[in-house]
Amino acid sequence: MIYPIVIFGSEILRKPCEEITPEYPELNKLIEDMFLTLTEAEGVGLAAPQIGKNIRLFIVDCTPWGEDDPECRDYKRVFINPKIYAVSEETGLFNEGCLSLPGLHEDVRRPIAIRMRYLDENFVEHDEEFSGYRARVIQHEYDHIEGVVFTDRLSPLRRNLLKGKLLNLSKGKFQCTYKTKR
Ligand code: NI
Repeated sequence: MIYPIVIFGSEILRKPCEEITPEYPELNKLIEDMFLTLTEAEGVGLAAPQIGKNIRLFIVDCTPWGEDDPECRDYKRVFINPKIYAVSEETGLFNEGCLSLPGLHEDVRRPIAIRMRYLDENFVEHDEEFSGYRARVIQHEYDHIEGVVFTDRLSPLRRNLLKGKLLNLSKGKFQCTYKTKR
């Protein structure tokens, strides 16, 4: 099943999410459907709140960057109950977009590397360092499960300039190629 994607303005994108246990109902099906939804929308990452589920789960698919970065080749992963516990001092800018904010693309400053503990889809624990594209998309998705979207990380001036566009999103005035809901 392909889920409609929740658009900016919806409350669920603003709530910190809850951890889950292996008993979470039909988790494998949910993960499979999230990958279907992500592929359909041609995105590189999708967090559970973006399909209306208030849980600490996100997926990434870095394969579009596979030619630039060998670490991204065939890189499709599931992250459950993640915890970023260290970030690099060095930061960088990268032009980000978000399936929940169609039409918006802005340079966002973030740490270039992170360390994160997380569970995979089999609830096996990992403790891993990420850099490059993977660090970027993981931090973006991690923000979603904390109730944060990428425009929150822009300067107040830049955000102010986008106010009209953000308002239009929350009013449903936007176009995109995938199914959405408010
Ligand atoms: Ni996003």
